[in-house]
Amino acid sequence: MSTSRRAVIASAAAAGLTAATVGGAHAHGHGGSGGGGRGPRRETFGRLDDGTEVHRWSLERGGTRLKVLSYGGVVQSLEIPDRHGRYANVSLGFADLGSYVSDSPYFGALIGRYGNRIARGRFTLDGTEYQLPVNDGPNSLHGGDQGFDKRVWDVTPSGPAALTLTYTSPDGEMGYPGTLSVTVTYTLTDDGDFRIDYEATTDAPTVVNLTNHTYFNLSGEGSGSIENHELTVAASRYTPVDDTLIPTGELASVAGTPFDFRRPKAVGADLRAGAEQILIAQGFDHNLVLDKGITRRPEHAITLYDPASGRQMDIATTEPGVQFYSGNFQDGTLTGTSGRTYRQSDALCLETQHFPDSPNQPEFPSTVLRPGETYRSTTVHSFSAR
Ligand code: GLA
Repeated sequence: MSTSRRAVIASAAAAGLTAATVGGAHAHGHGGSGGGGRGPRRETFGRLDDGTEVHRWSLERGGTRLKVLSYGGVVQSLEIPDRHGRYANVSLGFADLGSYVSDSPYFGALIGRYGNRIARGRFTLDGTEYQLPVNDGPNSLHGGDQGFDKRVWDVTPSGPAALTLTYTSPDGEMGYPGTLSVTVTYTLTDDGDFRIDYEATTDAPTVVNLTNHTYFNLSGEGSGSIENHELTVAASRYTPVDDTLIPTGELASVAGTPFDFRRPKAVGADLRAGAEQILIAQGFDHNLVLDKGITRRPEHAITLYDPASGRQMDIATTEPGVQFYSGNFQDGTLTGTSGRTYRQSDALCLETQHFPDSPNQPEFPSTVLRPGETYRSTTVHSFSAR
């Protein structure tokens, strides 16, 4: 933990701000032990049309507060202190289940089986061609129209501030081969880091690319634009896209382009640059190729800093890429958690992942998973304020 982080938590405690009211009227204590006593708490969030009960779990540790839904594994709320110890929910979302079911552009959700796009929803594996549902222009996006973001996950507490989410995706679901058994663990560490560990196994060759689609606004959801947030990404290359947002296959240098975030740069600085790639996506919606490459352990690659609140998020990952999306398709039609509407660039996503359309791009790192292998991916979000 950084010194400033400790100072912020200490001042928040002094102001009585760490006395969180996690859970609601229906909250029950469930599992968990040590680390200050309270484990993850569960409450009813809503019911799906078929009667399935959806829970919301609340975790708190090291000065970070997290709320997670069993529906989509959604990060429904993520509260962290600013430089004065004042908490805000820095993730976009909804207050009710119905909006997640009918309207959500993947707010906070687990994404699978394949994060981002597969061209024309088609790929060939071991000589067999597979057709996935096409749900984004001519392409398949985020695992199809009933992806992991729309599934109810089994959630069990697995530590003082940890949840294990499991889902078994049947062979052929959303067109993908193989029964895929997925385990995702959400952990708040002693330092208040939010760590996500993904694991998956299959009984037949398939492709997998899991991520989380949290929309961040470090000033707080509903507070306005993220154009003044400063972003730093250790990525010397990015994957340019065609006019349907499928990578052309080129790993292009970021030098001299709007995609150069190797030094801290305001997100808004080049958002109106008039560059072809920015026009295609109506902003940033591109995979940056992290210089670190694939690593066994999460390595730091990304920093997001909000000068207004002083909140900073650092991201370490095992993944070779990150989809940087500047909330381009937000258009003021959705009302968020605290009742305010979300407009273009009111949040950004940093989806750590393998590159889009890898199943059709032999030069990209492989996303193929075979029986006997275990897919593993970890991303850690650390928070501080200055
Ligand atoms: C990803 C995609 C975007 C968009 C968002 C959700 O970031 O790359 O094009 O689909 O998800 O709206």
